[in-house]
Amino acid sequence: MALFSPVTEREIIICRDVAELSRKAAEQFVALARQAIAARGRFAVALSGGSTPKALYSLLATAAFSAQLDWRHIHLFFGDERCVAPDHAESNYRMVKEALLSKIHIPSGNVHRMAGELEPLAAAVVYERELKQFFLQSETNLPRFDLLLLGLGEDGHTASLFPGSSALHETKRLVAPIYVEKLAAHRLTLTLPVINNAAQISFLIAGKSKAAIVKEIFAPAPPDYPAARIQPARGQLTWFITQDAAGDLGDSQTTLE
Ligand code: 6PG
Repeated sequence: MALFSPVTEREIIICRDVAELSRKAAEQFVALARQAIAARGRFAVALSGGSTPKALYSLLATAAFSAQLDWRHIHLFFGDERCVAPDHAESNYRMVKEALLSKIHIPSGNVHRMAGELEPLAAAVVYERELKQFFLQSETNLPRFDLLLLGLGEDGHTASLFPGSSALHETKRLVAPIYVEKLAAHRLTLTLPVINNAAQISFLIAGKSKAAIVKEIFAPAPPDYPAARIQPARGQLTWFITQDAAGDLGDSQTTLE
């Protein structure tokens, strides 16, 4: 008998624009933070990089939202990072620092950044150790984030899991160093077992440029894009999508058994 019946709730929430998408995602963040802190004394989140979540991070830093969040019990991790210094323009950490961290009071020990400045494999090993130290109690011995945010690339990549990447087949490592040929760049990324073990996964997708890939991913038999492999083993999956990216996709809530 399976230990856990893999029940996945998937919801699609179509939003007028990035402002509405960010507000709805911020409300979800606050609700989940309260639940997790009440239940377990802490809220563990893996943040997404890219440009779409920046407005969400800025909103969380506003008095209206920050006052609803007990940052002493919130731990911020990263789903992926570019292998650059933390003050580099390409750094996801820098983006989050400018939009959120520099505007709130959060204990420095609660911010768990990926060391993009290190040699990629060494950085992956260091972050894996940090995850293991933080999530010791997980039954499946896999970190279980309360919330994990993801974006979607026009090529179907998510986090730094790109089409054709060997990291897509990773079953042991929690964090993988990646070389992205087409970007001629090194990246660090959480692997699929960790991502799919999250209690709540939320995609933030905006912009007309994403309409084609969104259409493909929601097709009855989607191509095997990395983003199509995001299927929480025991959790919820929410797609926050702006109208211009959603095309004729409508709001929906389905239970996938
Ligand atoms: C990164 C991300 C990546 C991103 C997508 C979408 O570090 O770049 O984690 O997966 O979410 O590329 O990026 P945009 O939101 O900028 O379109």
